[in-house]
Amino acid sequence: MQLASARAVITGGVSGLGLAVAQHLVKHGGKVALFDVNDDKGAAAVAGLGEANARYFRTDVTDEAGVAANVAAAKGFLGGLNAAVNCAGILGAGRVLGRDGAMKLSQFQTTVMVNLVGSFNVAKACAEQMQGNEAGSDGERGVIVNTASVAAYEGQIGQAAYSASKGGVVGMTLPMARELARFGIRVMTVAPGVFWTPMVDGMPDDVQKSLAASIPFPSRLGQAPEFADLVAYILTNTYLNGETIRLDGATRLAPK
Ligand SMILES: NC(=O)c1ccc[n+]([C@@H]2O[C@H](COP(=O)([O-])OP(=O)(O)OC[C@H]3O[C@@H](n4cnc5c(N)ncnc54)[C@H](O)[C@@H]3O)[C@@H](O)[C@H]2O)c1
Repeated sequence: MQLASARAVITGGVSGLGLAVAQHLVKHGGKVALFDVNDDKGAAAVAGLGEANARYFRTDVTDEAGVAANVAAAKGFLGGLNAAVNCAGILGAGRVLGRDGAMKLSQFQTTVMVNLVGSFNVAKACAEQMQGNEAGSDGERGVIVNTASVAAYEGQIGQAAYSASKGGVVGMTLPMARELARFGIRVMTVAPGVFWTPMVDGMPDDVQKSLAASIPFPSRLGQAPEFADLVAYILTNTYLNGETIRLDGATRLAPK
């Protein structure tokens, strides 16, 4: 697909990595629908991107009916739907056995619900719409890009829930790509290392510094436009399918 023809639903699209994808696509002539639960940031994002290019849809990615309705509405606003980028996510940090006892099951469940089930929920609703698209070159009808994390592979202490959720995202990538191949819909996942976004901004300074120092090269946090660049490349390279790409400066997370 050409970026100028991208008609994309972007979850978590009002902040951090998702917003960077929205900015990149709009800059190259695409249109975006931002699915998020942060109304203030939604309004600010649309103001920055322009009302003709972007619309905010208050959407909890874990809500099956809400996502289906908003995907249909987004398709109307966009004048089609050929890209879905899942960036909504939460950290859900916590030890299995913390100071106050064992982790509440609800904490584990919420993390998996947002990061994994939410990604699946949006992917299937978008694929349902994409299957009816007129086929482009190579018979392509759409592209789904998920966001996992390097924590899917080497989660740190305190990341049991987060890593489980992101491991699930990596795991569903190939079977979804295989299944949706007959519709010409590709499914890819990006596993970022540590990126400079509001999610990381909230971490203590010493934690951020030690994270940056642990990255072989370049020894700094990733920048959101670097993530957006890769997502854009995935959208345009039709031969990329069914794979998770690490984007991490050769980071391998330590146990803590
Ligand atoms: N920043 C990093 O270093 C990093 C590293 C690896 C993976 N990731 C992943 O990248 C994605 C984007 O993270 P970010 O750093 O841009 O974080 P961010 O906090 O800036 O953005 C996440 C967005 O998701 C939204 N969101 C949360 N729960 C939601 C829900 N139920 N429904 C809809 N929207 C919801 C938030 O409101 C927020 O706008 C996440 O999936 C995160 O796990 C980030």
